[in-house]
Order: sequence, then structure tokens, then C-alpha cells
Amino acid sequence: MFDEIRFNRVDNLPKYVFAEINDIKAQMKKDGQDVIDFSMGNPDQDTPEHIVDALVDSARTPGTHGYSPSQGIPEVLDAIASWYKDRYGVNLDTKTQTVATIGSKDGYSHLAYAVTNPGDVAVVPTPTYPIHTYSFILAGGAVEDLKIKFDENYNVDEDDFFDKLTHIFDTAHVKPKYVLVNFPHNPTSATVTPNFYKRLVAMAKERRFYIISDIAYGDISFGGYKTPSIMEVEGALDVAVESFTVSKSYNMAGWRIGFFVGNKKLIGALVKLKSWLDYGMFTPIQKATVEALTGDQTCVDEITGRYNHRQDVLIEEFAKIGWNIKKNKASMFSWAKIPDCVQEMGTLEFCKRLLEQEAVAMSPGVGFGDDGEGYVRIALIQDDARMEDAAQRIGRFLENNCKEEN
Ligand SMILES: Cc1ncc(COP(=O)(O)O)c(C=O)c1O
Repeated sequence: MFDEIRFNRVDNLPKYVFAEINDIKAQMKKDGQDVIDFSMGNPDQDTPEHIVDALVDSARTPGTHGYSPSQGIPEVLDAIASWYKDRYGVNLDTKTQTVATIGSKDGYSHLAYAVTNPGDVAVVPTPTYPIHTYSFILAGGAVEDLKIKFDENYNVDEDDFFDKLTHIFDTAHVKPKYVLVNFPHNPTSATVTPNFYKRLVAMAKERRFYIISDIAYGDISFGGYKTPSIMEVEGALDVAVESFTVSKSYNMAGWRIGFFVGNKKLIGALVKLKSWLDYGMFTPIQKATVEALTGDQTCVDEITGRYNHRQDVLIEEFAKIGWNIKKNKASMFSWAKIPDCVQEMGTLEFCKRLLEQEAVAMSPGVGFGDDGEGYVRIALIQDDARMEDAAQRIGRFLENNCKEEN
């Protein structure tokens, strides 16, 4: 009925590539199959106890059950500011430079909705976490892709990045208004140096654009690498905002809370839009976030240590079946080129067949855009024994499917 009635905004969205994998996975799990799932960046461990305790204590405290301010309760805004001060030595004015959001994904969609005029252009590095692109497209803007180049140790080629960005600005019909960056990068885990942000802030001032930086994986770094923040650069507050989330560092993905800080004009726009669209999150969730951000940080080291260890195990186990993956410096993912003998079939087909034949789920690189073709993203959310089991299943898959291809 009413077939002629269209919903352009959603009807025009492309097919969500991950949906195909998710549908197969859901059916297999329903059928009782033992799926080893590496597909989503969804932490497998529980939230640390002291954070859960803070939620429970707050929920039992009278006066915490009503609406809360949509920008965030004052305590959580203070905690955000003190997190930036402790981690990065940055001073923020909580009233005008901080906002808590219902997860940072929600923050991206609302920020883009707040600040995008029809036809505005944003530059987004590819391959890309889909909401980084689609937040602008859904808001009526357009996106210029910038394919990131990085070496085998996942270091971004920063000169290449700035050459490409300069080229985009020199040749664009519509000058970009926003440049979005996300390092450590989802899906590739590529990382940048502090100098990258110095150059980006200088360029933003010269070419007059705003920067939106996502450091969701900022805490999860190994081997001496420390994720820089754009906020450390002098003058960044004039041109940049940055987001962080408690989802990854504190295993709080289901709690739905993240935050944005930085430039007053952009933060003000997001705060204003949010005051129309939503109320603040449940106060006990915000109180628990205060505990997460300002309480004992040992849990962050433990969580980071676990991903570091798992990456080593993954690399070791997959090497046994001839799938060689290099170690990266940050994030909860490995970005791996699929073996040569299955390159022909493409990553979506590879992931579908691997799931159907051996019940191992991974995210096809093409789900992050065409520039992800040839690669898969493996989330480090399985323990050692499951990774060993997965490697054996994949070994069998390669034997069966590579023979078939030859
Ligand atoms: C780069 C990046 N940014 C943001 C998010 C969203 O995090 P959340 O909405 O849970 O804060 C994710 C989730 O996977 C991510 O990978």
C-alpha cells in the first residue's frame, strides 16, 4: 500500500553492507551455530565494577530519576574537562566548550545536522567509519573522499595526506567547510603524530575550515605510542572540536555516552540543537561516567593490555595458516589484507562464505567504502582459545576455497 510514497532521506541511503553479514550471522546464531564473531567494535568484557557501583548508588539516590540538562549534568561536564586536563593538559570552559552526547555516534549525526547547510562539503578520509560520511549526507551536505595512505606499521603518510587535502581545496567547486579526522583510525587503525594536528590547525586557519576530530580509540594504544589530541595544539579551540567516548576505554558501549569538546561556535550549535531534540542522559549514567573519567584508571590499562595481547595472539595464530598480519599501535582492531588466493572473490563474498562455511564473522573492508576493498577489519573481541579455533576454521576455509579457485 502507498507504494508511491517515498522517504527520500532514508530511501536514498545505500544498502548497508554490514546488514548482509549481520542477517546471516543472526540466523546462524538463532539456529544454534557457534559463530566466532570478530565483526563489531563491541567490547566483550563487562564495565568495571566501580563504575557499575556508581550507577547503582546514584540510581538509589532520591532526585536522580527526572529529566537532566541536555548538555550534560554539571558534574559530567567538569569530569570531561578534568579528563582533558589530566590526559592532555588542556583547559576547557565547561559551559561553552563541552557537551555530553548519547554516545559519540549520536553526537556525529546531531553535530552534522546542526552545522550543515544544504550543499556544504566535508572532507572525510577513506575508508571510513560510515557515520563520519553519512552524518553529513543525511544532513544535506556532500562529502569529498580523501584516501589515506599508511605504511606497513600503520603510520599515516602525513605529507601525502596534506598533498591530497591541498589538492581538494585548490580544485574544489565548493570549498569544503569541514575536515573530519579520526586517528587512531577506524577501520584501519592507522595513527598520526602530534605534528599532523599542528599542520592541520595551521591549514584550517589559512584556508578557513573547521576540523572535527574523533579520538574514540585514544586510550587504546601500545608499545609506547600515545594518541595525540588536536586540542593540544595552540589555537585549536579557534577551529576544531574533538569527540571521545567511554564506550571503548571503559567497556561502556551499551551505556550510550560520549562527548564533544572544543570550538565554542560548533559546540554551541550542537548544544542548541540538542536542547530542541533531546534531554540529557539518565543521571545515574552520567554519574557513573564521572566515576569512569575521574576515578581509578587501572581499568584502562587492563583493557588496553588485553587488546595488545589479543593482537599478538591473533597475529601468531593467523601466521600459522599463512595469513600474515602486521602489528598496529592502537585501537581494538586489526586491518588485514585478505590472502591472495581469495582476493578475486572480493571482501564481501569472502566474509559471507567464511561465515556460512566456517561460522567466523569479520567486517568486509568494502563496508567502509570502496577504498576498503581487499581488506577485512577484525575486532579483537575474542579470547585466545577462540582466536586459535578461528584460525583453524579459516585455515580449512582457505584449503577448500583456494583449491576451488585454482
Ligand atoms: C571511530 C569511532 N567513533 C565513534 C564511535 C561511536 O562510539 P559511541 O557511539 O559508542 O560513543 C565508534 C564506534 O565504533 C568508532 O569506531
